[in-house]
Amino acid sequence: MLEEELRQHGAILLRGFDVRSPEDFSQVVAAFGWDEFVYAGAANRIKLADRVLTVNAEPLHLFLNFHHEMALIKEYPNKIFFCCLEAPAKGGETSIIPSDFLVEKMEEKAAEALKKMEEDGITAVMTTKAWHRMFNTADEIEAEKSAMKKFICNSIKFNDEDGTMDLIYGPMSPVKEFNGKRVMWHMITEYKLAERKSKVTFGDGERIPEEAIKAYNEIVDEGSVNVKWRQGDVLVVDNLTVQHARQPGEPPRVVLVSLSH
Ligand SMILES: [Fe+2]
Repeated sequence: MLEEELRQHGAILLRGFDVRSPEDFSQVVAAFGWDEFVYAGAANRIKLADRVLTVNAEPLHLFLNFHHEMALIKEYPNKIFFCCLEAPAKGGETSIIPSDFLVEKMEEKAAEALKKMEEDGITAVMTTKAWHRMFNTADEIEAEKSAMKKFICNSIKFNDEDGTMDLIYGPMSPVKEFNGKRVMWHMITEYKLAERKSKVTFGDGERIPEEAIKAYNEIVDEGSVNVKWRQGDVLVVDNLTVQHARQPGEPPRVVLVSLSH
């Protein structure tokens, strides 16, 4: 029944239950009876209990932009569980937005840019300092092999001057269809984090117009919900149709994650 609710609403917040430890959270996840999805993404995650991992370790003052989990990886989870064991002192909300709302509104507010993104595609370059850890090797050839096997990137480049690696994706349409909904599967905005950054252009290399990005950001403001964490909260998100983000905040913040098919 909850699966049907999730499909309909995109996210479910379970609040007021006595979930205090990674083991408690693990039991909540198991109770849903969904298949485990084994994490193989770019973030540095530590396993704390069966099917339970730490969330992205990027410093809390940074905003983690809206995304579908593992959209750039060949295999991605259908569903995400988040669990708050310690609520942030300040900020640190997990924000969610229906991804089909983003596409629908972009069709209204930035139709031309969206059309070009779908027809010519976008190119995304993700530059990472942490490729040794990501691919568990310091060998460039091995890292390239793993990247091409695991990620949907089309090519790889190593930058000798600063030791970083570029994973080059596309041209690809950022829009995908799941469950009859057209969703913004790939990020069209750029980001800069401690470990990695991204640059996005149209498939032909042309910059995405500022007005289109402005429209996108306004749509995000209009359509997103901030989940202000309370200890024991479990948030279930349909990863195929809902994007999530992390607002900047202050420690402590203990939020754990579990991925399912
Ligand atoms: Fe995420």
